[in-house]
Amino acid sequence: MRQILVAGNWKLNGSRDSIEQLISGIVAGADKTGSTQIAVCPPFVYIPQVAERLAGSKVAWGSQDVSDQDSGAFTGEVSAPMLNEFNCTYAIVGHSERRSLYAEDDAFTARKFAAARKAGLIPILCVGETLEEREQGVTESVVARQLDAVINLEGVEALNDAVIAYEPVWAIGTGKTATPQQAQDMHAFIRGTLAGLNAGVADKVQILYGGSVKGANAAELFAMADIDGGLIGGASLDASEFLTICSAGA
Ligand code: 13P
Repeated sequence: MRQILVAGNWKLNGSRDSIEQLISGIVAGADKTGSTQIAVCPPFVYIPQVAERLAGSKVAWGSQDVSDQDSGAFTGEVSAPMLNEFNCTYAIVGHSERRSLYAEDDAFTARKFAAARKAGLIPILCVGETLEEREQGVTESVVARQLDAVINLEGVEALNDAVIAYEPVWAIGTGKTATPQQAQDMHAFIRGTLAGLNAGVADKVQILYGGSVKGANAAELFAMADIDGGLIGGASLDASEFLTICSAGA
């Protein structure tokens, strides 16, 4: 039985003060969210603050990105070993905003995935199609290509220590959530693709849905057979809304 994981991706939001309030609110209600696993991914500079506040709580933390390099002359990068020093559990890789706004391709994403795993972080590998790709009927081939890049570099067994997040780009920040059935269909496609390579990995890997998840729609999404939680953007910036989503998985 896979556990539900709800991870907040705070993106480029927050300040010392607002994060202090957000974390206080989340910690105050986290124990009432049953067996749901919870994580938050703040901007890099706030990771120490979050780590200090969350140590000993049920809420884990992670980064929104990670370098494909461990150290060296790579200005502006933050490496997986550095994130380890702040006890990050997770590192998001291949978010669609990295792919589209910063031109990060499948091969680069796969190298970030590898760097995170090598340091003992759990990569949250984001996959998903654009609206144009969905309308062209290539949704499955796009997602298969994004998965293949990682599988070809690291082997399918690498997904034993990873999380996948299916985030249709057209549903991110738009208020347009995929219907539970649309999401389930893609999650089943992802799990089926993996099952063709390794049934054990397919059965174990948590596949999160992301894209306009809110308190009001989380329960029906998480009730689907192959949806194991959510990667939450906007709604993770409000403690009570985020906790409602966490409770939807309990
Ligand atoms: P929203 O929940 O704001 O649509 O963002 C989803 C997302 O991109 C999470 O990584």
